[in-house]
Amino acid sequence: MSKISLPEASNSFCPQSLFLYGTYKEDGTPNFALFSWFSYMWDSEFGVIASIGEPKLTLDLIREKRVFSANLVTEELLDAAHYCGTHGGATEDKVASTGLRVARGEKLDVPTLADSPWTFELEAAKIIELPDSGGAVLLCKIHNTSVDERLVDESVPVEERLRLCSPVRYVDNKYFSGNDGRLLGDAAE
Ligand SMILES: Cc1cc2nc3c(=O)[nH]c(=O)nc-3n(C[C@H](O)[C@H](O)[C@H](O)COP(=O)(O)O)c2cc1C
Repeated sequence: MSKISLPEASNSFCPQSLFLYGTYKEDGTPNFALFSWFSYMWDSEFGVIASIGEPKLTLDLIREKRVFSANLVTEELLDAAHYCGTHGGATEDKVASTGLRVARGEKLDVPTLADSPWTFELEAAKIIELPDSGGAVLLCKIHNTSVDERLVDESVPVEERLRLCSPVRYVDNKYFSGNDGRLLGDAAE
């Protein structure tokens, strides 16, 4: 392998999973927005770290209420997820536009997605404000993880359970099948 240094920082070949973050608006309407800068942390217990890059409704609502859900995006959810990632929630009802099926959190007052196989209910326990961008980094306590029961059936090999789940993989601004690597769409379109 012959390596080169890029002219600027990039994660374009660092595959990411996608999550739809669910919050309730002031009038109680559920809102979902798409996020890829999501990972995990440890501080006496397993937690989530989320980066929100610039001001948006979802961040305003998390600052105010401190709670949200993070729902893993599968191939089946991709069209609606893309819509939620390219439309602001302040001016429209994205759930009505996409037909996403919404449920309520088991432990927190957050909207969740009935058709996502892996949902975290999260409390933003620490919010690190990023004044240069107006964004924030959220260190989150996991209050509940609700999952498709078939995904935790250890009698079935994990590769088979992964096929059932079919999470979308996000690389270089494009969506790919997490199962067979097929190109599913271009996030820039
Ligand atoms: C594929 C994809 C990934 C995204 N990932 C992030 C992210 O990790 N952080 C972020 O701040 N915004 C991210 N966005 C942008 C938000 O989803 C977008 O600004 C959304 O419209 C915000 O909706 P809201 O106004 O309802 O909060 C992403 C968008 C797309 C299409």
